[in-house]
Formats: sequence, C-alpha cells, structure tokens
Amino acid sequence: MKPSPSPGTHQPEGALSQTALGSTLRPFGLLAELTYRCPLRCPYCSNPTQILSDQRQPELTTSEWQRVISEAATLGVLHLLFSGGEPLLRRDLPILVDSARTVGLYTNLITSALGLTQRRLQELREAGLDSVQISFQADEAALADGIAGCPGAHERKLEAARLVNACGLPLTINVVLHRGNIERLPALIALAERLGAQRLELASTQYLGWAFCNKVALLPTRAQVQQAETIVRAAQERLRGRMEVIYVWPDYYAERPKPCLYGWGRRYLTITPEGEVLPCQTARIIPNLHFDNVRQHSLAWIWQRSAAFERFRGSHWMPEPCRSCPLREQDFGGCRCQAFLLTGDAANTDPACSLSPHRARLLAILSEVEQQSGSSSSFHSPFAPDGQPLIPILFR
Ligand code: SF4
Ligand code: FES
Repeated sequence: MKPSPSPGTHQPEGALSQTALGSTLRPFGLLAELTYRCPLRCPYCSNPTQILSDQRQPELTTSEWQRVISEAATLGVLHLLFSGGEPLLRRDLPILVDSARTVGLYTNLITSALGLTQRRLQELREAGLDSVQISFQADEAALADGIAGCPGAHERKLEAARLVNACGLPLTINVVLHRGNIERLPALIALAERLGAQRLELASTQYLGWAFCNKVALLPTRAQVQQAETIVRAAQERLRGRMEVIYVWPDYYAERPKPCLYGWGRRYLTITPEGEVLPCQTARIIPNLHFDNVRQHSLAWIWQRSAAFERFRGSHWMPEPCRSCPLREQDFGGCRCQAFLLTGDAANTDPACSLSPHRARLLAILSEVEQQSGSSSSFHSPFAPDGQPLIPILFR
C-alpha cells in the first residue's frame, strides 16, 4: 500500500510516492560496519558516541553477513566497503571477502592497518579483496600517535602500506583533516607519494558523532582552510595522472552544503555490527526514527519499505527555503544529521547552506573557533568497548 503524503506536505505533481521511489532507486554502495571495536581512539571517530554495553546486541555472525552480502548483490549494490571500528578484528573477514567476490561485488577494506600483517593480507588477497584504504592521522609519529591515542600506531601503518604495495593491491591513503594536522598538508601529500598510493583522500572532518563533540577543538580556522585549498589545488595539478588527490571541503566554511551521500536513501546504505540498516553512518542520532534490522527483514524490504529510509527520500519533506529552491535535487538540502545536531530538527535546512534560517548557529561555532585558535585543546575520546571513557588527549 502506498503511504499518503502527510497533511500539509507538498508533493510535486508527477512525483513518485516515497515507496515507489524506493523501488526505483538502487543502492550502489554498502558500508559494512563489521564491529565497533577498534585499537584507536581518534577524536573524530564515527562510532556511536554512546555505546552502553548492557544494551548492545551481539555482532552479526558470519552466516548472517554472508546472507546480507548476497542480498546486497541482488539489490544492485556494486561496491562493498568493509569498515568498523576496525574490520580486521573480525577473524572471519577473509570468508566475507570471498562471499563478496562470489556474488561479484567490488571490495574495499577501510582500515587503521593495525593488524594488517603479511599473512593477513595474503589471506585477504587470496579471498579476492580488490583494494585497501589505510587511514593516517599525520605524517610523523608523535603527532599521529597522539591523535590516534595509540602509541606505535603510525609505524605499523607505514609497514602495512608497504605490504599492500608489495602485494600489488591498489592503495588509498585517507587523512581526516582538522586543526591539529591541516598545516602538515605538504608533508602528508609527500607521505602518500612515498608510499606509492594510487589515491589520496584528504577529507575534512565531518562534524558528526565524536567530531561534533570535539568540533571547537577540531575545526580549522578560515585562514587554514584557504591555505589548504591552495596547497591541494597545486598538488592535484602536479600529480595529475600519477596519484588522484581527492579533497573533501569543510562545508562549515562553504555557502552551499554537500549533497550528503547523494541524498538520503538514494545511493548508499550502512549496516551496523548488530544488523541495523541505516541511510548513513550516524543516522541513529536522529530521534523518532526506527531502523529495521537484517535479522528481521530482507535487505530489499528495508531499502524499499523501511520508514526510516522513506522519511527523507526525495524532496516532499523539505521545508522552505529548500522546497522551492532549484538546487533541491542536487544537494538534497544537505545533511540530515548535521541539520539535527545544529538545529534540533533533522528536517530543517542544513545550516551549511547560507540560505538556511538556522545559519547563525553555525556562524557562532566558527566565531568560537577563531577566538580559541592557538590555545591548547582537549578532546573527548571515543568510549572503549567496555563503555569506559578514555583519557582525553591534548595538542595545540
Ligand atoms: Fe540546497 Fe536547500 Fe540551500 Fe537550496 S536552500 S541550496 S536546496 S540547502
Ligand atoms: Fe547522516 Fe549526512 S551523515 S545524513
């Protein structure tokens, strides 16, 4: 049965109902969060900010993941990203990679690289892994290990990157940029070149999850952002044809928001370690949304029918100014999670848009950043798996 539009909502003439829209769309990418466990404690972690151990369900089993992987391929998914937490902590990872290969999915391991030994890499390669993405926190050990909250991590990442190169798998280096490392950009680019990466992703922090808790400490200043853009543009020109340099700009400093995930429930889905299916990694922060679980429903049913996916699909739900904006099918009103965190209502226009009536909230944060730049910052660290907060780390 097709749901009727709620009273007062505008449905453009000829627009598909939400359920019909869900049936016509096909998800290209699936982010499989195999576990929230992780050896690192990055202050911008995308793990949930509240993991209460007594409320946790067990992680999906190997056979549950295998079923989901097969259903994903049937649904049209092309690209499977194994992520976490740290996906290498799942001993069955090679079995899951093999399952993905069997159904024809392109696989990418998104890893801190801690635990990526020669033997482990060989197992994954033999299982059919297509590519590896290693996160780096900085270009040198003291700073990198401080950001990661894990002594010795940087050296292990360097070794793992060499192993990936040696075994011939395509290597992406990912760096989350923030005030603590953005001035190291030239050295970070040089590091990726030295490591023989095919691709370097310089991703400005998305201020969601732990990063939102730490936003004033992590946000770069406007001057830092402008300088970074100049450096990245020069590197993209210089490295054209040798290494792809992707730059994800910080939308707090932009006039228009990013089309978060190319629209809610349009191209991507995320499955949590316990099997909940989300339109984006942090969607659970939005209140009053129920996320269905692969333990109760097929992936196709959830993609096409789940109320959480239908809530912000298309443009029927948009308030002004998005509702009558010519860009509404291009940026989809920005990010629902960011709109919720900054305004208290996920249906509001993302304040990253300068047309948003809630823009002042974002500008107030930027003003706080300018006032605090140059002083020491302390971070809230992600919770350990047993639910205990770790000691905050400090850097200027
Ligand atoms: Fe995008 Fe809405 Fe801003 Fe228009 S008003 S540019 S649709 S966020
Ligand atoms: Fe959730 Fe953008 S991260 S919608």
